[in-house]
Amino acid sequence: MNVFDTARKNWAEEPISAAAERFGLKDMPDLDYTPAVARETAPLYERVKDHIPAIEWPVFAPYIHAINRLKKERGAVILAHNYQTPEIFHCVSDIVGDSLQLAREAGSVDAEIIVQCGVHFMAETSKLLNPHKTVLIPDSRAGCSLSESITGADVRRLKAANPGVPVVTYVNTSADVKAETDICCTSSNALAIVESLKEDTVFCIPDEYLAMNIAKQTSKKILTWKGHCEVHERFTAEELLAYKEADPSIQIIGHPECHPDVIDVCDYSGSTAGMINYVKDNRPPKVLLVTECSMASNIEAEAPGVEFVKPCNLCPHMKRITLPKILDTLVFMREEVTVDPAIADRARLAVERMVNLGK
Ligand code: 13P
Ligand code: SF4
Repeated sequence: MNVFDTARKNWAEEPISAAAERFGLKDMPDLDYTPAVARETAPLYERVKDHIPAIEWPVFAPYIHAINRLKKERGAVILAHNYQTPEIFHCVSDIVGDSLQLAREAGSVDAEIIVQCGVHFMAETSKLLNPHKTVLIPDSRAGCSLSESITGADVRRLKAANPGVPVVTYVNTSADVKAETDICCTSSNALAIVESLKEDTVFCIPDEYLAMNIAKQTSKKILTWKGHCEVHERFTAEELLAYKEADPSIQIIGHPECHPDVIDVCDYSGSTAGMINYVKDNRPPKVLLVTECSMASNIEAEAPGVEFVKPCNLCPHMKRITLPKILDTLVFMREEVTVDPAIADRARLAVERMVNLGK
């Protein structure tokens, strides 16, 4: 048991002010909903009031207040994915976005400490782009079914069986897999990345459905893998068509990790940032967001007049990140994300090639 585990064990009995002192931080408030906390967090509540009942705010507010103070004291920046819950997305994050935006921002942040509110591959990508900075994730068990579908050894076998075929790897993978990759992609740039390669046959792994959706838009032959997103694979074309039948004015917007049959019935498909921009730019009166539940909640306030219908599947990995765990991360500087130096340089190159292609 190391010092952090000991501290963690004591956490339940120890007021936050005492823990903060032990870890060399200035005095931090206890987690009480004092009049000062209520006053200082009132503008933040305005942003989430449609999603958090007033009776629950006294539970959230002390954490938000403490996180925002501690973040400044530590000189940390919080990066949050679009699937984080509204109180994280709107009340403690400094930078929000899709995987590509977060990777880009991670490469240019000033702070020495990055707290990644998202899943592990996102934190690993931040570490790859910031090898000398401290990257922390509030729960290192926050995985991803796509990332877990393939290993570096799998990619080596694919390459040995298909010499000369370039490998485009979705960022939703481990550093081990990225290290075997020619170039990474995200859902917002996958087509452009595939088209940028001179070869006529390209591996697009590990998301089978993303690859099938890309294959429909390019003349190149796309080889893929049997990885799936456990959140997006649950949507079916039939269920979406039933919504459309009930109200033909509804616009269906889906993430390209969905099966091509689902994307076929969508009016628009794109990355999480692409979906947000589509809604903001087009303001359809009624929208069905075919993606993770928190997305609609996070953008509702910015798209007044748009009615969101939420067929809604939760990503259990994204939902591992909570306010108490973020506070824990900042107090105890855990859990630190590291990448094996033996693979870091090759993995970084694959991410940098992707980031640079868009510049
Ligand atoms: P985006 O790059 O569209 O944000 O997707 C990340 C992800 O994990 C979607 O499930
Ligand atoms: Fe992975 Fe799917 Fe969760 Fe995104 S939504 S992190 S792809 S499991």
